[in-house]
Amino acid sequence: MRTVYVNGEYLPEDQGKVSIFDRGFLMADAVYEVTSVLGGKLIDFPGHCARLSRSLSELDMANPVTDDELLGIHRELVARNDIDEGLVYLQVTRGNPGDRDFAFPDPDETPSTIVLFTQDKPGLGGDTAARKGNKVISIDDIRWGRRDIKTVQLLYPSMGKMMAKKAGADDAWLVEDGFVTEGTSNNAYIVKGNKIITRALSRDILHGITRAAVLRFAREAQMDVEERSFTIDEAKQADEAFTTSASAFVMPVVEIDGVQLGDGTAGPLALRLREIYLDESRKAAV
Ligand code: PDD
Repeated sequence: MRTVYVNGEYLPEDQGKVSIFDRGFLMADAVYEVTSVLGGKLIDFPGHCARLSRSLSELDMANPVTDDELLGIHRELVARNDIDEGLVYLQVTRGNPGDRDFAFPDPDETPSTIVLFTQDKPGLGGDTAARKGNKVISIDDIRWGRRDIKTVQLLYPSMGKMMAKKAGADDAWLVEDGFVTEGTSNNAYIVKGNKIITRALSRDILHGITRAAVLRFAREAQMDVEERSFTIDEAKQADEAFTTSASAFVMPVVEIDGVQLGDGTAGPLALRLREIYLDESRKAAV
């Protein structure tokens, strides 16, 4: 049985409990982070910590822990659950005001709720899934206008995954005004003649921590990077495509809406970037 963390306590998972009045449950009034673990160490931890602080401050939500405490909790959970490869999920909500009300409660009277748990994923750092690559479909992006805040409002992304599954694909890319915003739970990229193209940062997409690292490594390796919007039609004519996220690192995309990219196998540039990202991130893991 897993050990989880709930508001200052380490507990067996079946004893971790949150109130039915918690605003995370009633209003999706909560933010989250997912940090990967490789070799028992945390990947890109400072980035996830910084984005958590930003998400909280954009929503005027109190941060219940310092960055040092957060690192301590992550490490303790990884150790207690003996995670070699996997994920740490963290969620902070606006807490339990004891009733349902649209207005935010006074943070002095209603402390934030904080919950963390691990997910064991042996093979996460391996290449089996990446060598096969993902097939994606495109769907309308009907999410709200603050996608830069990592909230737990994940109903539409979940629906997108189900639409993909029904269509025999692995994931969905979201499209607004003809342009790809991002994947359901990842940032989206295409490759055209050795140029890596990905949408620029704005409120339209999540500022991926893996994205930041991958673009830095790509530039350091003298790869050509262009941050601009691209249409789904342009994507279908690309040489390669891929996604990035903490849970899948760099993942090649081999098909979009049934249109095969290149020869339909995982692209060499995406696989190279994955290798660089994994090597460098393992070195910097804490
Ligand atoms: N998802 N865009 C969206 C909409 C996401 O949900 C995610 C992450 C990303 C990639 O961000 P990062 O590189 O920081 O993981 C982009 C996480 C993994 C999830 O929901 O499980």
